[in-house]
Amino acid sequence: MGAGASVHLQNILRANPAKDILLVADRALLKGRFFKRIEEIIALSGAASHIFCEIEPEPSAETVHKAFDLQQSSGATLIIAVGGGSTMDTAKAVGILATNGGRIADYEGIEKFSIPPLPLIAIPTTAGTGSEVSGSCVISDTQRQRKMSIRHASLNPARYAILDPEALATAPTHVIVHAGVDAFVHAFESYISLQSNVFTDALNLHAIGLIHGNIRQLAANPGNAEAGLAMLAGSALAGMAFGQTGLGNVHCMARFVGARFHLSHGLSNAICLPFVARFNMQANPAKFARLAQAMDKETARLGQRDAAHAAIVLIREMCDDLGIPRSLAAAGVDRASLPDMADACSKAGYEKWNPRYTRREDFERLFESAYAGDHSG
Ligand SMILES: [Fe+2]
Repeated sequence: MGAGASVHLQNILRANPAKDILLVADRALLKGRFFKRIEEIIALSGAASHIFCEIEPEPSAETVHKAFDLQQSSGATLIIAVGGGSTMDTAKAVGILATNGGRIADYEGIEKFSIPPLPLIAIPTTAGTGSEVSGSCVISDTQRQRKMSIRHASLNPARYAILDPEALATAPTHVIVHAGVDAFVHAFESYISLQSNVFTDALNLHAIGLIHGNIRQLAANPGNAEAGLAMLAGSALAGMAFGQTGLGNVHCMARFVGARFHLSHGLSNAICLPFVARFNMQANPAKFARLAQAMDKETARLGQRDAAHAAIVLIREMCDDLGIPRSLAAAGVDRASLPDMADACSKAGYEKWNPRYTRREDFERLFESAYAGDHSG
């Protein structure tokens, strides 16, 4: 990791020689200076690049199989992903198919494959999903209209991850903001998860500090390498933790909001975050007080409840400063859909992770507050 760290790709390719490389990349980057430099490094290694860049947000199984066809026809033995979560997840899925065969739907669930995938070098160009270090990839099943989570804690992370803030410098502001808040929510929900432990707490508290302390600066100037590196590190730290702990109600609600109203994963999370944070606070005020400290709040003279409440205020201020819509209504969500979404959330199984037990009517109230932008409830 570091500004300009992508140059280390040279050494990685020297240690992992390949004649043909599948280069899975975000199309928006292809003409940029950063991507050109990656292509040059690959050419200098003597390998041929086979570029796949037809990747939509929330990539589908069809996309994965198209990329897999290119891997098969090119005979690529190594994969490099240059892009955000969708790009890295597509690359991971191709790697699994290349060594395990079959269809990607065969591997939905936990540890459904056993042969190590093709080696992957991941160069994230957003600080968001932490996919470069996490054991999961999410692929949409468009026929069944659902998302498949493919998880393997030891085999599914990339073999190498290069965290280079120069990769973030051309991202549009809304991408930086939505991806960055998603990373914050990973750290936040993983920290307060019922499955958290002392190791994940350490990763997540540091991630919270890095992300909260740098997200505004990176949104204001994507070329700020110091903020970019801190955001990439925060996103990767959270990515190492949330596979162990699971997530919570923010991801649960965002999942159904995003799917129904075609809002990005990061934006749906960002809108729901302040409301769920307030709802969850009383399940673990001690941890919320610690969260406020991680966000640089002076809490020495505050009682636990006031310190915990300060965390909620800090989260709300962060979302406001980043221009996140203050309600689901403002983002175009239809009120009539709230009962259905509450129903879906209550059946989604997040109670094994979310710290406050959430009944169907609680989800409905949460959706109502988020719809109205009402922080009093
Ligand atoms: Fe997420």
